[in-house]
Amino acid sequence: MQSLQTTSLRVIENQLFILDQQALPQEKCWLPATTVEELVGHIHALRVRGAPLIGLSASLLLALLAEQGTHRAQLAQALETLRAARPTAVNLMNNLDRMKLALAQDNFVAALTAEALRLIDEDRQLCDGIARAGVALVSPGSRLLTHCNTGGLATAGVGTALGVIAKAHQQGKVANVWVDETRPLLQGGRLTAWELGELGVPYQLITDSMAASLMAKGQVDAVWVGADRIAANGDVANKIGTYSLAVLAKFHGVPFYVAAPQTTLDRDCPNGDAIPIEQRAAAEITGVAGRFGAVQWAPENAQVYNPAFDVTPAALISGWVLDSGVVTPEEVANGVFVQQ
Ligand code: MRU
Repeated sequence: MQSLQTTSLRVIENQLFILDQQALPQEKCWLPATTVEELVGHIHALRVRGAPLIGLSASLLLALLAEQGTHRAQLAQALETLRAARPTAVNLMNNLDRMKLALAQDNFVAALTAEALRLIDEDRQLCDGIARAGVALVSPGSRLLTHCNTGGLATAGVGTALGVIAKAHQQGKVANVWVDETRPLLQGGRLTAWELGELGVPYQLITDSMAASLMAKGQVDAVWVGADRIAANGDVANKIGTYSLAVLAKFHGVPFYVAAPQTTLDRDCPNGDAIPIEQRAAAEITGVAGRFGAVQWAPENAQVYNPAFDVTPAALISGWVLDSGVVTPEEVANGVFVQQ
């Protein structure tokens, strides 16, 4: 396969490398992802994370394994193992459905490579489309609030919600970005803060619980988040804490936008109740483990509830900003996301 570089994926000499998103921003560390077990381990540990990126990394690895001579039956098995790596973001399943069609072709090695590269290229274009559509919704002087990380790290392109914010900044429209730290794994505090810093976008880091008082003081003009899955009725699964932001935004009359590519749409999923929500390890809540060691603050054997995502009902969303344009609540109510 040709060499390839995105913000967080690299193919060099037919080997896949991932930028370790757990080591950022302190270290920029590229790790090999040469086997299915290795990549699934990176995905479980959120070293590779973000809905689009998970699907793209899995597709690239399958193509590289095919090029290395892995048999069709083993590739089919690998594809199913990768599909099960995380349950909520539908991009993984959507991308692998396309890879499965390529695997069924006579010349499956070339077909898998072509499809994986097409997915990367398309994702870049999808991000550009989202940024183009979304920037029109940002007024000059805006103070925007975002949650989790939806930037170049999570995609092959400029990102989704963060891509909109970056483009709005280029157009001189952004006065400030409030960055939710995003408990418990701090994708906002670590990754979004880092990306905005690199882009020169003015931001202030806040804890998730500070959003309410900022909105009450009239300091937030719009909320921009990404999505892991959009159901046919417009309900959206995204990083835990997104739903509370949407409720707050509704109460304070602040527009709440969801930015996502077509690959995040699940037309077969009727509503948010049908979206599988990943449950994660207790240790993410009982303390913190990182490169400086582990600290536990909760009592030994504390019982924990740790869903990685929540569902925001369509009724709280002001607009679904897709690569194809902005979808309004009226269009969603009229079934624009429903399978024809
Ligand atoms: O658990 P994560 O870090 O993979 O969760 C990521 C999110 O919830 C993002 O908002 C979503 O995947 C969109 S990324 C463009």
